[in-house]
Amino acid sequence: MEWKFFYVTTPIYYVNDVPHIGHAYTTIAADILARFNRFMGHTVYFLTGTDEHGQKVLKAASDAGLSPKEHTDKLYQNFKNLWTKLDITNDAFIRTTDSGHIEIVQELLQRLYDKGEIVKRRYEGWYCTHDERFWTDKDVPQRNCPDCGRAVEKIEEENYFFLMSKYHEALVRHIKDNPGYIMPESRKNEVLGFLRSNALGDLCVSRPAQRLSWGVPMPFDTNYVTYVWFDALINYYSATRYLSGDKSDFWPASVHIVGKDILTTHAVFWSAMLMALDIPLPKRLFAHGWWTTEGRKMSKSLGNAVDPFEITQRYGADALRYFLFREVTFGLDGDFSEAALIGRINTDLANDLGNLVSRSFAMLNKYFNGKIPAANAVEEELKGIAEGILPKIDAELDALAFQKALDEIWTLVTYLNKYIDTNKPWVLAKSSETQERLATVIYSLIEGIRFVSLYLYPFMPKSMAMLYKHLTLEDVSKVRLSEVSRWGLIEIGMQIQGMEQLFPRIETEVKAAKPQAAVPSPKEERPMNAVDNVVDIVDIADFAKIKLKTAKVITAEAVKGSNKLIRLTVDSGEARQVVAGIGKHYTPEELVGKTVVIVANLKPAKLMGVESQGMVLAASDPDGLTLITVDREIPAGAQVK
Ligand code: MSP
Repeated sequence: MEWKFFYVTTPIYYVNDVPHIGHAYTTIAADILARFNRFMGHTVYFLTGTDEHGQKVLKAASDAGLSPKEHTDKLYQNFKNLWTKLDITNDAFIRTTDSGHIEIVQELLQRLYDKGEIVKRRYEGWYCTHDERFWTDKDVPQRNCPDCGRAVEKIEEENYFFLMSKYHEALVRHIKDNPGYIMPESRKNEVLGFLRSNALGDLCVSRPAQRLSWGVPMPFDTNYVTYVWFDALINYYSATRYLSGDKSDFWPASVHIVGKDILTTHAVFWSAMLMALDIPLPKRLFAHGWWTTEGRKMSKSLGNAVDPFEITQRYGADALRYFLFREVTFGLDGDFSEAALIGRINTDLANDLGNLVSRSFAMLNKYFNGKIPAANAVEEELKGIAEGILPKIDAELDALAFQKALDEIWTLVTYLNKYIDTNKPWVLAKSSETQERLATVIYSLIEGIRFVSLYLYPFMPKSMAMLYKHLTLEDVSKVRLSEVSRWGLIEIGMQIQGMEQLFPRIETEVKAAKPQAAVPSPKEERPMNAVDNVVDIVDIADFAKIKLKTAKVITAEAVKGSNKLIRLTVDSGEARQVVAGIGKHYTPEELVGKTVVIVANLKPAKLMGVESQGMVLAASDPDGLTLITVDREIPAGAQVK
């Protein structure tokens, strides 16, 4: 990114709307960019806000027995509260009812009027009161609004028109000459296609005040108020004049992030308005896709809008922030489901990332009493990956390719997990000759994790700030990437405390397999057959009662107060907890990631107060125990017969 000033905006949200996941999506995207750009040392201005004029607001206010201003003063808080909850770092919050904004809207209208860009005309058209917009005869063959389906009515009146049609050619040229102006590419082509097949008309920018009083009065004719979109779009510019302190040089915006449904208003209306005003156009418009639930559009009336407050309450803001950008390419549509969110939390966050951190901290603690050891060599490959990711993240985020930026970061997470498995610190720990190597491995792991926390911070600010602080005692929001994304900065000798699991696994309902038939209790067991030295023969039907399955170990920790028991959480097709008496033969760290075999339908039992939902199989001889594993990769939960 070559920005010095980075100015990012979200649409201003209809104040009447109940905030849902779609609103959260755009704002989190802007927040990730804002945080990353601050991190890169750029001067950032991040604007969001609420769209507060129009018929719907007036109606809702009168239904609530309030003046429109009283009503919006209450409602805009819903959005502010959500942004606090989601750790959004907007620099300003604009409301279209701010007097500063209204003054600038009027100033610009007056300028356009004086230049002859706005004229009064008699007009006849089909009007949708709900959407406050006119349609042509051709648009409404059934006399229903193409947007909301409600009946339209024929209205004939005088109104003010912005002579937008003049800008048709200039607009096409601007879009073609500036390939990054509208993104993604497919959306750019849609806009160009629209402009190719439609002659751009003039835009009706007024509404008679007697029909709609809740709007910005036209400065040259107070019998009219301004069309809501005309008023709303100006927010991006007006904020830089009255809400950014003395930093008005933020205009033009670096990027307006919008949903695909409102790209035309931005790409066409807003661009033409700015051209007519001789104000530079924003550098980029990025249209993202829509989130649906179970394939259907989210809406209040369908009752399927996903409440971001509730999701955050349940899973945390970081998990939601991560999920929205990991799951779907920014620009495409996605379907939201809690199951997919939980899947991401469990695999990416609890398993890949959380385990990496907890295993590394546990080993640091065990082998070096929590003190960062000095490395005896630089792990060049790891260093190269850690340092080399930054320019890639930078390039991906410049193109708003959040998912690809996360892919880059994940190459480091995956590398570090593999690094543990190949270097086997628990083996190095056993010999005095490999102590130096052990120190290098543990140092490199912790240093690698520091890079992970830096890079993930814009996506998951709360947990990553905590992790970074844990490792460095520094506030990550105050550091600059150029200074801290160099290998070897972690302080040798620093004492690192253990840490709570960053992302605990979400235990979806554990279906503790019910024993289908009683497995014989010890009392009923028949004595060993003295002749052939095998346990008494059972027939196949009896054996079939015992369900054996493969299970992948997700987490492992010693049961407090026991030197033998290890509590494992495993994926056996479902999540379950199993306690195994193997602590004298295995360390928890070396168990994670192994595929073992469990008895899946054993009646749950408590061992030292910890419930075990199954039994891990191991073979034993006088030298000790060895786990039964599989000799090729096989999905967790496979039946063992
Ligand atoms: N007030 C106008 C914008 C004026 S900007 C000058 C508006 N507001 S809105 O509240 O209806 O929508 C704001 C944004 O939320 C839009 O970008 C819209 O695409 C986005 N979303 C609303 N529902 C959405 C989903 N279900 N999924 C993703 N984003 C969606 O339009």
